[in-house]
Parts: sequence; structure tokens; C-alpha cells
Amino acid sequence: MNTNPIYLALDFPRLETAEAVARKVAGHIGGLKLGLEFFCAHGHHGVHEIAKIGLPIFLDLKLHDIPNTVAGAMQAIHVLEPSIVTVHAGGGRAMMEDAKAAAGEHCKVVGVTLLTSLDEGDMAATGIGGTAHDQVMRLADLAHSSGLDGIVCSGHEVAAVHSQWKDGFFVVPGLRPADPHGKGSHGDQKRTVTPRQARDAGASVLVIGRPIARAEDPVAAARAIEGTL
Ligand code: C5P
Repeated sequence: MNTNPIYLALDFPRLETAEAVARKVAGHIGGLKLGLEFFCAHGHHGVHEIAKIGLPIFLDLKLHDIPNTVAGAMQAIHVLEPSIVTVHAGGGRAMMEDAKAAAGEHCKVVGVTLLTSLDEGDMAATGIGGTAHDQVMRLADLAHSSGLDGIVCSGHEVAAVHSQWKDGFFVVPGLRPADPHGKGSHGDQKRTVTPRQARDAGASVLVIGRPIARAEDPVAAARAIEGTL
């Protein structure tokens, strides 16, 4: 079994580019993440093409609709045999329960809590009071009690969520490898989390895009990250 926790985010508009990058680094990662943009552009055909590489597929579709529609969408992607699919935890208990019930036996259904593009001002504008942290913890709790396998969370949140959901499956994006020289492109960023730190804090899956996909040498970049885990 492949136990490498790195899922490479294939955020490329062209299918051929996504496929070429994935094939190059396939030996150093554990799976491939395809997002909404890829799915809208290339659909089932695109997923089938990428699946030929032979790695597990994470469909990051962030589904959010009435329970019946989300269950129908989950059934419609059965044939693609994704290993992970995302739904919005804000869609509520019935939606999450139905999404999980409609998922394939080996598919992890994972809840998106609060998009990192939203701050507390945006929350207040949609009628949600309190802090972003409280909202993440509240939705994590709801996802757990609704039968989901886990949630998507940042490297800063994973330890707190893990402490209250011991056997949860936690997908962590937004990671940046440590800079061996202590400076350079990420050296001035104070709040980055490395893949190793996220793993140590309880992450099950490490979503990594640009640090590998846009590196001058993607294979060397993937191998270097793999070596730190
Ligand atoms: O930044 P990077 O290219 O590694 O992002 C990889 C993936 O993680 C992207 O598909 C992006 O949409 C997602 N991401 C996220 N939340 C963040 C940062 C990135 O969902 N805070």
C-alpha cells in the first residue's frame, strides 16, 4: 500500500500539462488532487486520463447543495473511484450524512470548514459571529457527528482538531517546505507550516501544489519534501 501522504495539487488549465507533471513526480507522491477548475474543464474524461497514472485521486469538488443533489453528485462520481472527495461542512448535517451514505465504500468524504479566503469580517457579513477558530471547531464537530471521515484544515488548526477527533482524517493544504538556507522565497514568511510540522501535528494528507508543480525541478522538489517526512 502507498503510504506517502503527499497529494500533488494539479492546478493546471491544460490536461496535457497536468498529466506530464504528475507522471514526472509519480514515484515521490501518494496521490493526485484535482480541483473544481480541472473538473469543470475536463470532466470525467480528464479524471480517467489522470487516473491512468495509477495513483489515488482526490476530487476536491467542495460540494454544497441540498442533500438530494449532493447525494446524486456523489453517485455520479462513483465510477471515477476517488479516494477522497470534499463537501462543504456548512451544507449541514443532512447534506453531509447523505453525501457519506452515497459515497463509494473506499472513498473518504471530507468536510471543508471555513475557506481561508474568508476572514471574520466576511463571516459577520454572512451572519456568522465569533472567531474563525470557533467556526472551524464548530464545523469540525458537526462534520464528525454527521459521519464524515474528516475535514480540510490548515496546518495551524490540525493539532487542535486532532485533539478532539482522534481518529479523524485530516487534509492539510497551504504548506511550504522549510528553506534550508533560512531565507529565499519563503524566508520572510512568519506563519508558514512545513509538511513535516503538519504531519507531526496529525495531518493524514498533505496537499502540495506550487512548491512541487512550479519548481524548476519538480522531481527534486518532491523528493526533498518526501525526505523530510
Ligand atoms: O499553495 P499550493 O499551490 O501548494 O496549494 C495547493 C492546493 O491547496 C491548491 O489546490 C489550493 O487550492 C489549496 N489551498 C487551500 N487552502 C489554502 C491554500 C491552498 O485549499 N489555504
